[in-house]
Amino acid sequence: MKANLEKMFAGTTFSDFLLKPQKAIVQTRRMVDLSMPLSRHADIAIPIIGANMDTVTGREMMNTLSLEGAFGFLDRNCSIEEEVSRAIYVKNQHSFVIEHPLIMNMSVTMGDARKVANARNSSSILVEEKTGSGILAGILSHRDMPPTNQHNKLIKDFMTPFDKLVTAKPGISIEEAEALMFKHRIEKLPIVDAKRKIKGLITMRDIKMVKQKPYSTKDRKGRLLVGASIGAAGDYMLRAEALINVGVDVILIDIAHAHSSIMEKAIKTFRNKFKDVELIAGNVGTAEGAKFLAGLGVDGIKIGIGPGRGCRTRLETAAGVPQLQAIREAYLAVDGKIPIIADGGIKNDKDIFLAIATGASTVMLGSVLSGTDEAPGIVVEDPTTRQKVKLYRGMTSPEAVVDGTKGDTEEALSIPAEGQSVRVPIVGSVTDILKRIRGHLQSSVSYAGEESLLAAQKKIAKNPEKYLIRLTEASKAESFDR
Ligand code: XMP
Repeated sequence: MKANLEKMFAGTTFSDFLLKPQKAIVQTRRMVDLSMPLSRHADIAIPIIGANMDTVTGREMMNTLSLEGAFGFLDRNCSIEEEVSRAIYVKNQHSFVIEHPLIMNMSVTMGDARKVANARNSSSILVEEKTGSGILAGILSHRDMPPTNQHNKLIKDFMTPFDKLVTAKPGISIEEAEALMFKHRIEKLPIVDAKRKIKGLITMRDIKMVKQKPYSTKDRKGRLLVGASIGAAGDYMLRAEALINVGVDVILIDIAHAHSSIMEKAIKTFRNKFKDVELIAGNVGTAEGAKFLAGLGVDGIKIGIGPGRGCRTRLETAAGVPQLQAIREAYLAVDGKIPIIADGGIKNDKDIFLAIATGASTVMLGSVLSGTDEAPGIVVEDPTTRQKVKLYRGMTSPEAVVDGTKGDTEEALSIPAEGQSVRVPIVGSVTDILKRIRGHLQSSVSYAGEESLLAAQKKIAKNPEKYLIRLTEASKAESFDR
């Protein structure tokens, strides 16, 4: 460890501190840059990460978070095929060029075509001459689809044939594609090579999205960045391989207690096979735990033992570290050189700023995102208030464990639960939650006297005694009792 934990952080969490206001230097807080490192080789525009929980980060949450410049990790409480299909879904959304558009051959029936198009959430189908040939014969868009009673007819009777199509060559720029589509008043532009082989599809909707959201979290090909979680035992390497094969960019090996020999073996096995894949591991809550993961060559470390809303670990086992102390210990242990994800316990937006100001690069949110439209949790009516709420559950709650086991429920439930379910209010779209967080973080940076979150972190994390005030019970009451 480079430096010992400062006395002011021992036993502390978010509500123990306030930021001492500094002279503001920004003209308007909207100019404040919030980008932070997600891991050693990837940055994100807003430092928010959706928790890899089955009531938080499904495909819609992953999609919206990346689109808005944040990030997330798909949960692993499902089959490998299911997690892979969610990753494919996100990878196929909003990229400038859809690399793997939906392709079918001419003799598929309209009924089957419609079913597959709906399942893939695809508004058009590229039609190939013979199955597997990849030679473009035409395009079938929503407008070409007849009323449902024609479902036994074939695609070829309704598609727009190749000789009536405008197409482009691979490598076309976004500006050229937009100009071409505007000139011909078309919504879809298939990409084909000199032999008419399908190389992709550009849609006007995606071009508009790319232009509207320039800060989205994207890979080198312009597709949304996708994170996915795996475990450290069983079929975790098969899961990793399947996810990486479909283009998942960042893998998270996530277990409750990552300062362990199981994790050591898992990281070494993973690194042996995937040397260059961005890898984050967690959770740990101590300096020793953070150093241990850093020594195994990870690109990011996830911190948090027991602070989460759905957690019962501290209550049931007595194990845990107050979250601000844990963040600070980890930051000092890795000397600020490996990005830290502060995971769990965030209730108010100020907690996000404090986590980052003391050393985290990003924060992972579970309950704060779980009541949004994009979260996959079940909506129920609260019998006492008659209000609609969503169910949010810890991943070791009995409910999540039962859903995650493939049949052997009795065996799974033989391990006592360290998680619980709670009801959370429904709060609308995650886009609005991110907008609110963005505004509050920009204000915090302005109060910190800086122009960017990264600069505020560098300043405060280096010298926290100067910029943070440790609260007394009385000042906590003055600050937070409303
Ligand atoms: P928040 O406070 O944002 O926390 O809801 C999200 C984090 O909680 C952790 N988590 C658990 N911890 N038992 C635990 O001890 C559980 O069953 C459980 N489920 C989730 C996890 O780190 C998540 O990101």
